[in-house]
Amino acid sequence: MPNDNTFSLTLSKEEMQKYGYKIIDLIATHFENLNSEKLVSLANRKQMDALLQQPIPNEPCEPDKVLKDVIENVLSNIDLLTHPKFYSFVPSPSNFISAMADSIASGFNIFSGGWSTSPAAAELEIVVINWLLEMFNFPIVEGGGILTSGGSMANLTALTTARRIKCKADYSKAIIYLSDQAHSSNIKAIRVLGFNERQVRIIPTDMEFKISLNKLKNAIAKDKLEGFEPFCIIASAGTTNTGSVDSLPEIAAICSKENLWMHVDAAFGGAAILSKDGNTILKGIEKADSLTVDPHKWFFQPYEIGCLLVKDHKWLSQTFSEKPVYLKDIEGNDSEINFYDHGIELTRGFRALKFYMSLKTFGLDAFKKAIQSGIDLAENVEELLRKSPMWEVISPATLAVINFRLNPIKYNLPEKELDTVNQFISKQIINTRSAVLVTTVLQNQVVLRMCLINPRTTMDDIKSTLDLCEKIAEDYFENI
Ligand SMILES: Cc1ncc(COP(=O)(O)O)c(C=O)c1O
Repeated sequence: MPNDNTFSLTLSKEEMQKYGYKIIDLIATHFENLNSEKLVSLANRKQMDALLQQPIPNEPCEPDKVLKDVIENVLSNIDLLTHPKFYSFVPSPSNFISAMADSIASGFNIFSGGWSTSPAAAELEIVVINWLLEMFNFPIVEGGGILTSGGSMANLTALTTARRIKCKADYSKAIIYLSDQAHSSNIKAIRVLGFNERQVRIIPTDMEFKISLNKLKNAIAKDKLEGFEPFCIIASAGTTNTGSVDSLPEIAAICSKENLWMHVDAAFGGAAILSKDGNTILKGIEKADSLTVDPHKWFFQPYEIGCLLVKDHKWLSQTFSEKPVYLKDIEGNDSEINFYDHGIELTRGFRALKFYMSLKTFGLDAFKKAIQSGIDLAENVEELLRKSPMWEVISPATLAVINFRLNPIKYNLPEKELDTVNQFISKQIINTRSAVLVTTVLQNQVVLRMCLINPRTTMDDIKSTLDLCEKIAEDYFENI
């Protein structure tokens, strides 16, 4: 390594190539061997401290040694959310092209804050946002959006915009409505924005885990009678727990009648708009004022890329635009978007590149097929479970999510015992490190939840996981 006295954070071209090829090999091998890799780490804090805590390194170290340490100690202690048997949370079935695009974005260290610092980066962000606007049937010319770090940030950006546009400066009486199945990031956003608890209405859901329209209407009416000012409904289009989609056309009608902002959190479920079934289930999504959809979920992008779409791009600049003197020279003209004026962040990485390159490389049809395959797989799993004397479906396959529990007919177990055994199965499966299948709670029942958006997941993967679950359960029953 060159080690002159002025700046030593450099490698020669040959050193960079040698180092870079090793990393490309590592990533390519990871994708190639994905199925056979251990997909979950069980390391606790004590073990990680022992392995990785160290003093600040004053002296340089050979790049290969640092890389070896990362491979041996870091990469062996991570979860693989791209793995076909990672069924939990919202997995992230990423792709190689986008990973390489991220290398370009950080290799060239492209600043995607203002137009004049990287016109092509801003233009590509406009391009992919236009593609998304078109997919969701939002107006292309008036509509707009911004790429964010993820769904949480997109929801925060949406609710900040909703408050600014609907409530102006005084939001002391403003009320916001969401269901008990809405994602926690919405509540976080509401808290960050400084609303107090009395300004939030958590509306119960019905038997299909959709917001109860009757209870929603009652709450709005009561709030108005009490002198509050309802301003926003957050609808979920693909709840994290069950994939349920709130009744979007009806919510749109309520918003229109009551002059409320309609935000749709479709962070995970939105991509289903590209599938035949999803297109039907998501009808009404085009009526939203703002919409969260995460490319790093069901659009197969690596972290981090979320997106907020809005019906009128001016709402974003009206909410976020600030004109400090030190940015005056790069403001550009009105047609040139400075994304720092459309959201919270000033310095932003080039998130659009990975979405752009992967969509161009694989084509939209490949995305459509991959999304439909997740929906089909979940439906096939539902059928399999319904035919089995061991399993019970708790919420049917919806947008590739299914919830179920082990409930063997032959044992006729009480509820409490069912909770215990299903929790046990989840824990033991994870302990095998061969699949990640965690629980959630639906209507007070502990259930196993699969989110099957990974097109690499096969029915054989599922069957082998369910077989293992059954074996774990039999061992459990033998020992009680
Ligand atoms: C419906 C929904 N909204 C928002 C989020 C938050 O997204 P992120 O984790 O990208 O911040 C999630 C995450 O799973 C989600 O499922």
